[in-house]
Amino acid sequence: MGAIEEIKNRIDIVELISQYVQLKKAGRIYKGLCPFHSEKTPSFVVYPDEGRYHCFGCGADGDIFTFLEQKEGMSFPQALQMLAERAGVELPDRGEGPEEKNKRDRLYGLMSAAAGWYRSQLLSPRGTAARTYLEGRGILGKTAEMFALGFAPDSWDACQKHLRSLDYTDEEMVEVGISIPRETGGTYDRFRGRLMIPIRDVRGRVVGFGARIIGHGEPKYLNSPQSPIFDKGRLLFGLDMARRAIREENKAVVVEGYMDVISAFQRGVRNVVASMGTALTEHHIRQLKRLTRNIYLALDPDSAGVKATLRGLDVARSAMEEKVPVVRPGMVHFEHALDVDLYVLPLPNGQDPDDIFRDTPEKWEIALDNARPLVEFTIEMRLKDLDLSTAKGKSEAVRRVTPILKDVANDVERTHYIQSLSRTLNVDSRLLERQFWGDVRRRRPRQKRRPEEEPAPDVGTSWVVTPTVALERHLIGLLLQDEERLSLLNELLTEALHEPLSGLDFREEPHRMLFEGLSTGDIPEVLDPLRSEIISEVERSPEVRPDQLEKELLESALRLRIYRTREEIRSFQELLADAESQGSNATVAAYGEEIQRLSHSLGFLQNSLRSYNVVKPESTAV
Ligand code: UTP
Ligand code: MN
Repeated sequence: MGAIEEIKNRIDIVELISQYVQLKKAGRIYKGLCPFHSEKTPSFVVYPDEGRYHCFGCGADGDIFTFLEQKEGMSFPQALQMLAERAGVELPDRGEGPEEKNKRDRLYGLMSAAAGWYRSQLLSPRGTAARTYLEGRGILGKTAEMFALGFAPDSWDACQKHLRSLDYTDEEMVEVGISIPRETGGTYDRFRGRLMIPIRDVRGRVVGFGARIIGHGEPKYLNSPQSPIFDKGRLLFGLDMARRAIREENKAVVVEGYMDVISAFQRGVRNVVASMGTALTEHHIRQLKRLTRNIYLALDPDSAGVKATLRGLDVARSAMEEKVPVVRPGMVHFEHALDVDLYVLPLPNGQDPDDIFRDTPEKWEIALDNARPLVEFTIEMRLKDLDLSTAKGKSEAVRRVTPILKDVANDVERTHYIQSLSRTLNVDSRLLERQFWGDVRRRRPRQKRRPEEEPAPDVGTSWVVTPTVALERHLIGLLLQDEERLSLLNELLTEALHEPLSGLDFREEPHRMLFEGLSTGDIPEVLDPLRSEIISEVERSPEVRPDQLEKELLESALRLRIYRTREEIRSFQELLADAESQGSNATVAAYGEEIQRLSHSLGFLQNSLRSYNVVKPESTAV
């Protein structure tokens, strides 16, 4: 097998794309909002078996490689390189011969020489102000030594002169971002008058710098740009030093800032790494996962860093989610996709870890003890702005939390959250459970980490056939047999003053998709097996007489709606009973109104069904 095939086999396209798009399982396929064009209803489909995706809206189409090319603007070799690493597939050596390696080694050498020089500057008389600054922040000499902190003097060329004397070329200095080319030719030092923090890779090689202004000013930090040896999206500051402690304590804490890590180490807390203010990526988490599965996020929820983190983990976002930036369902999904346990560390108001280590180090342990599972934290954040004493607030709460719970892979865990939600909302947990299960039950088992361990359920064959499922299939079957029938049915519905048939009339996701395909005249190929199965079912059942067809169509549609409405009424009745026992009058009234509205719709639907039954059979009787 070629390397490309091998990579395709090993990388789960659903897992890959899930980092960008919130995908929903629908039988054998996954569906979501297309990341390549803007849309409100999902027409982007991922076919895990074939390792491909296709958008029925904009026509985007391809595999794991083209996805990264299109989404991340990578070249094919870049995408190949990245996915090969992720899959652990060795690429046939192409070009990175001794010469390439030598070139990279020179860059590492250059960075190490630069770090050494900055360090010497800090210790020299030129570095007095920087040393005073460090002292003022309570950073001891031995801590500065441990992190090899340095100082870049306020000069346009002192650093490059030194590096030239060591035979490094200007091109090399530009390549790693130590120097910046002038438009008029020549180069100058990027870092001037700053405290230099060397950033090392896991193997301890200096690959970049974070450069802090001494005192106040903008920008606070200048960082090395992306280079052949420096990739902020992969590196965690401090990981080379924190590795052992993370493994030993079986716990890693991700903080935002360089200074947070430095302070932590000074206090003897060594399992801390920094995301350097960027979005936490899958690479970051994967690296930590090699050492521990327990990952704590000590992130200030209001900070730009957290917003960036969330953006990185869940690119697809709706307007509502925009207002609740803290942790999105995508992140929960991510947690499970990567099989790690993420916790959120509650930081005392306005304090970052550095403040804690300096002022009240004992609070660090307390914060760790009080860390909350990501899901719990997420749920709370999403409910923050709701008035949970009102019916509206409660149903909105359920609506917001359902997608998060769907991402929780573990049944026990999920039940736990449902119960805790029921306490928060003061709603019977059985009712919540029913709402939740009603929504997802037949879509389970959800995709596991290794799809080969547990084959995805067959579309159409593996779920329990309940009366609604049967009815949905029957109606779709009729519509599939002859595509004219949909407009006929919609006319009948409109005539009887009902809404035309919509995807929402179907509870089963595959049915909904089939229906939507049917109405747009474009049924995804992947639904072919289900479609033929349903067609053959109608064909096997007694034929609908042409003069009975209208009745059959309308009846089925009305019955589906009646069924749904009844279900809703039942839910609200339970909510109402609950509210009564709590004595919350306003809630009781709100539920009462809702039940009335629904009962009215139900009556109207039943009437239509009845009158049709009475009138039509007579007129068509032979
Ligand atoms: P912070 O502002 O929390 O930085 O940003 P800090 O490390 O705690 O610094 P002090 O305590 O103010 O000295 C968190 C991280 O975001 C990145 C840096 O990696 C920083 O450590 N950042 C922040 C930048 O890259 N540039 C900036 O201008 C600011
Ligand atoms: Mn800070």
